[in-house]
Amino acid sequence: MSGKIKKAVLPVAGLGTRFLPATKAVPKEMLTIVDAPVVQYVVDEARAAGIEHIVFVTGRNKHVIEDHFDIAYELEETLRVRKKDAALKDLQATRPKAGTTSFTRQQEPLGLGHAVWCARDLIGSEPFAVLLPDMLMKAPKGCLTQMVEAYKTHGGNIISVEEVPMDQTHNYGIIERGPVEQDDTFTIHGMVEKPAPGTAPSNLYINGRYILQPEIFDLLQKQGTGAGGEIQLTDAMQQLMQEQPFRGVEFKGTTYDCGSKAGFLAANIAYALDNEELAKEISPLLQKLMG
Ligand code: UTP
Repeated sequence: MSGKIKKAVLPVAGLGTRFLPATKAVPKEMLTIVDAPVVQYVVDEARAAGIEHIVFVTGRNKHVIEDHFDIAYELEETLRVRKKDAALKDLQATRPKAGTTSFTRQQEPLGLGHAVWCARDLIGSEPFAVLLPDMLMKAPKGCLTQMVEAYKTHGGNIISVEEVPMDQTHNYGIIERGPVEQDDTFTIHGMVEKPAPGTAPSNLYINGRYILQPEIFDLLQKQGTGAGGEIQLTDAMQQLMQEQPFRGVEFKGTTYDCGSKAGFLAANIAYALDNEELAKEISPLLQKLMG
């Protein structure tokens, strides 16, 4: 039996260049999926998995993320006076309890590995989760919850993966895996970030959810740049694998990469269709557009 995963890191310091000019003044993590910023869905997923404290690794121009998770006192008071109880309740539900979030800055966007390393003092010496806030994982049972269940049995490091077409593996971190065991998990034998076309060890990509042991921080400290000239988390994990077990969980659900335009638009449609009222309005429109 392994201890509880209490802390999660959400790296939100990237530049979001694929969404320029939208992300010139608005962080890509604050772009809206139906009626909530994408980062809110990911925070909800973390809380549902039992996470008690979230460390946001932010950067310049990201202060609205901090504001979003703070109290909006005047707005709440106005809603109260106007007796907009439902809107007030929805608003309050977005707010984590006082003292359960921390914000630290990655001063330069040197890569995901560097962003995670920036959280080292706030995480300390306990295992923790990392959730990429632009990856939306839609499932009846949240992705991190699925991973926490595997962690309770196996401990070590747990990585969520899913299939990608073989001709797209060069865009992702790809793992090499052992046989699938009774509880649907498997040992990870290796991983490589953005393998050259034709060299990927499988078609299973790391989809943005990790449970890691704190020893990763020492490796990240020494990590040089890797694919794309960035300090890669995958490279440090590949090193940690020489000392500690890594286990994979194939995510049961649908992932939307909201850092890409197609994924972001698909997520908006999928989440809108979940809402009965909205689905009634947009279904005929979508059918008309599709001819
Ligand atoms: P991405 O590579 O998708 O984000 O990183 P990006 O660099 O912002 O996007 P593009 O490619 O320019 O459009 C995945 C996550 O890691 C964070 C990002 O904010 C995003 O949520 N990240 C990335 C950091 O926090 N710091 C970095 O140096 C890089």
